[in-house]
Amino acid sequence: MPLRERHVTPSILSADFAKLGAHVQEIMDEGCRVIHCDVMDGHFVPPITFGPMVVSALREALPDEAYLDVHLMIERPERHVEAFASAGADGITIHVEATPHLDFTLSKIRDLGCKAGLTVCPGTPPEHFAQVQDIDLALIMTVNPGWGGQAFMPGQLDKIRRVREMLGPDVAIEVDGGVNPKTGAQCAEAGANWFVAGSAIFNAPDPVAAYHAIAKAVGAE
Ligand code: DX5
Ligand code: ZN
Repeated sequence: MPLRERHVTPSILSADFAKLGAHVQEIMDEGCRVIHCDVMDGHFVPPITFGPMVVSALREALPDEAYLDVHLMIERPERHVEAFASAGADGITIHVEATPHLDFTLSKIRDLGCKAGLTVCPGTPPEHFAQVQDIDLALIMTVNPGWGGQAFMPGQLDKIRRVREMLGPDVAIEVDGGVNPKTGAQCAEAGANWFVAGSAIFNAPDPVAAYHAIAKAVGAE
């Protein structure tokens, strides 16, 4: 998958789960290729969302060109990455704060044939990205993980700049939380190239128009 390209990656967290396939397909018909899936376990973050079964159902429902970008907000992700890879994840992102076995888990993700992503909560410094061997994607949380619809944290823009300097152009830098046309453009300017947007798309009166507005603002179309 084009890790160097710019993509808006809609988060299904704010979609209607009873009509998930149709909602995502509607955005894919507009050119969207990366779908962000937020997995929460009730431990690492308070809410519980969904597990591999929903990822697998989406995989079945969507065309092959859909890239399923799975963001694991779960404790000890090394115990579950195999299940998400089998379910059809293309990329799996784990939290620095969720396991003492980062390198092991990232290698395991790659051995399973998926792209390996690493992410940090807003209060966690960016130096962690320099401590691991190979990652395909760095996810910078721009809200505290756990809920959609929170306000963007502008203090994270410096972290995006730092991480882009540290990792160079070949690693995707994804931002997640409070992304709309205005904040998305700020993140793009700071060096991000994948832009998660949940409520700004799926809670909008016209999700297709909202998708295009963000994509234009960040230079993804
Ligand atoms: C939050 C999730 C996000 C969430 C973003 O913990 O990781 O992906 O869906 O939602 P918005 O775009 O509404 O901030
Ligand atoms: Zn997310």
